[in-house]
Amino acid sequence: MQKIIAANWKMYKTRAEARSTAEDLAKASAYCLPRERQVLVFPPFTAIADVAEAFAGKARLAVGGQNMHVEKEGAFTGEVSARMLLDAGASWVLTGHSERRHIMGESAALVGAKSSSALAQGLKVMLCIGETLEERDAGRLTEVLAMQLRAGLAGLEAENLSGRMAFAYEPVWAIGTGKTAGPAEVLEAHAVTRALLGDILRNGAEALPILYGGSVKPTNAGELLQLDNVDGLLVGGASLEAQSFAQIIEA
Ligand code: PGA
Repeated sequence: MQKIIAANWKMYKTRAEARSTAEDLAKASAYCLPRERQVLVFPPFTAIADVAEAFAGKARLAVGGQNMHVEKEGAFTGEVSARMLLDAGASWVLTGHSERRHIMGESAALVGAKSSSALAQGLKVMLCIGETLEERDAGRLTEVLAMQLRAGLAGLEAENLSGRMAFAYEPVWAIGTGKTAGPAEVLEAHAVTRALLGDILRNGAEALPILYGGSVKPTNAGELLQLDNVDGLLVGGASLEAQSFAQIIEA
């Protein structure tokens, strides 16, 4: 399966900063992007069009939004629609990132509604899932991932998702903390996710990519990419500098 290496720039970078990093990535990928790798960048809304321009004509570099509103349009001050993301040059959207679930209070049901709305409007979706440390310590890993996946995939059929949906397993305790999940923990969680996808979607689930995210760095990316059922990486902090993200892309 093609590996997806994705950058989540969160609330960092002005337009000029985003454009400059994206141009450096486009240059680096022209000679170092391994075959069978796809690169996605999720900049803040204001920089999506700039990054899309910097990636123009590069089939394996794409841009996405970090969030969207579930409705197509309306009186929702401060929100952005799928159509606006597409218009700015995005082809993907993140749903269910832990910062949106835990800081902005998004429910699993809302994450599911956003995912199906995004797909229906022509965006590809990267659905993020992951447990808190408290949930892990209470032995609730499978239960939490099952709940997030069932709600996140409500009403969706596997045959319509091929090439249009990816998942990112990001343990909440490993995001931005410098603590990466160890190989055994990543293997277990990805196997659980793969099995749950098979259960929920039946046929076709094995072709859907599952990325790992949480304190990925140039030093651990290669090892993580070798693990079974790890079909890519979602990188926050270490994706902000083109040089460090390019090392992860090549890992
Ligand atoms: P991190 O963030 O790599 O800085 O831990 C990952 C993410 O939030 O997607």
